[in-house]
Amino acid sequence: MDNKNYYITTPIYYPSGNPHMGHAYSSIVADVFARFKRLDGYNVFFLTGTDEHGLKIQKAAEENNQKPKDFCDNISRIFKDLSKSLNLSNDDFIRTTEKRHHKAVQFLWDKLASKGYIYLSMYKGWYSVSDEAYYNEDEIVEKDGKKISVISGSVVEWVEEESFFFKLSSFQEKLLEFYNKNPEFILPISRKNEVISFVKRGLKDLSVSRKSFSWGIKVPNNKKHVIYVWLDALTNYLSALNYPNLEDQLFKNFWPATLHIIGKDILRFHTIYWPAFLLAADIKLPNRVYGHGWILSDKEKMSKSKGNILDPVEMIKIYGLDQLRYYLIKEVSFGNDGNISNENIENCINSDLANNYGNFCQRSFSFAEKNCKGIVPSDIDFNSQDLKILNSFSNNIKKIRSLIDNQQLNNYVKFIIDKSSQANKYFNDEAPWNKKDNKKRLNTIVYVSLEIIRKISILLLPVIPYSANKALTSLNLNTKTLKLDSITDHLIIKPGSKLNNQGILFNKIGKNDS
Ligand code: ME8
Ligand code: MG
Repeated sequence: MDNKNYYITTPIYYPSGNPHMGHAYSSIVADVFARFKRLDGYNVFFLTGTDEHGLKIQKAAEENNQKPKDFCDNISRIFKDLSKSLNLSNDDFIRTTEKRHHKAVQFLWDKLASKGYIYLSMYKGWYSVSDEAYYNEDEIVEKDGKKISVISGSVVEWVEEESFFFKLSSFQEKLLEFYNKNPEFILPISRKNEVISFVKRGLKDLSVSRKSFSWGIKVPNNKKHVIYVWLDALTNYLSALNYPNLEDQLFKNFWPATLHIIGKDILRFHTIYWPAFLLAADIKLPNRVYGHGWILSDKEKMSKSKGNILDPVEMIKIYGLDQLRYYLIKEVSFGNDGNISNENIENCINSDLANNYGNFCQRSFSFAEKNCKGIVPSDIDFNSQDLKILNSFSNNIKKIRSLIDNQQLNNYVKFIIDKSSQANKYFNDEAPWNKKDNKKRLNTIVYVSLEIIRKISILLLPVIPYSANKALTSLNLNTKTLKLDSITDHLIIKPGSKLNNQGILFNKIGKNDS
């Protein structure tokens, strides 16, 4: 069965502070996949949003002398604005303070309880408010007189309170069996191994409610407890599809999720707790969780205290949105940590966008304007060189799809930029400026170049939507109706039609410009 539905999610971010480059990165990555799949004819649902309950948010609101809801309204709005600034194509933006989510979480709770997976006891152990996570004794060390988690480095506090527990320990074997049967559930593989060894060391039951504060969704039938923020937050992936209404079209089409994009910090929640909750509730498990690495600034993790937080909005102002999107996708090795710097982004923009793809578009369009009166040539005849480069797209369509389905983002971009280099070489080698006595040959080189621009631009649409759209508009093509499949054809651009050059795509960045 060919499933043409594709459900992709980002983490829902804590609106405890303003968004930074790390949040932007996860969202842009997810957007590239969503846009590619739409381009390839899939019915896509792309979800992002904000995670608004819990002690971390309650404390942040208190520090700002605001009510939690007012505080969240304000910062959630900033995240929503960022999704516009990043040109995300998300289909929904969920907030965990919404009614629809509230309903879904309480329903799921009741379901877990009715199946006998929830019981009341006492929690005694370590808790990190900043991670909203419980840690085992062997995960705690002392540093500068403070207890911190070795997993995240954040400060933990000792908690002793009445709490409901989820019988996570009953799922140890089922989870291991699931990972075994679905070897690509957790990617990259290195992270999968990390998760499996954690589960093998033994799972303890999980505290899933708190009593000492109130900012959260109440436990049904026990108003003294609020539901643990991670059980609350993970459920967003279901509530956005109108769970618990299993007959809802969104739920029917899109569950189970195709791909949860997350950072490596929240792997445990997505690959252990989340599948265990779903198993307990008899809900299908997502197909894949991809835990990417850190965006580093000055080779270090971004933090307020180090003062090295990178602001995506600032970067966009300096370099442009598509430039930033391209840079993050091209230069950060997907799955690993990646350092970003002004110097690198400038080199990347110049070498790949301005001097390579942008240059190829520009030289082709201006040559066509000067030598073909800006009309797409009709008197053409492809030779073997022409067909070789044109076919190098059609011959690779399977590979292209598989790169995306395997989240090989860097190889995807590399394929495209290699094509662009080959296109520039083709133009140099064929030297249409020397073919003024052979009009048919000159016309053919121009036509082939325009077709290559078309193919490359289609492949670039998911990564740099504005710029690729601009190039395609120059060819009078409508990107709303274009499909990936059309890169296997060589005669799409209408001979005899007038080119509609939209101008330079990327300015070169000089050493003194920024
Ligand atoms: O964890 N590099 O929210 P959060 C790359 N609300 N990605 C980064 C990053 C960095 N330096 N910093 C953050 C939460 N991220 C929960 C999620 S989901 C049901 C609930 C990205 O605001 C990365 O995706 O702390 C990471 O997992 C996420 O932001 C954490 O965002
Ligand atoms: Mg975090």
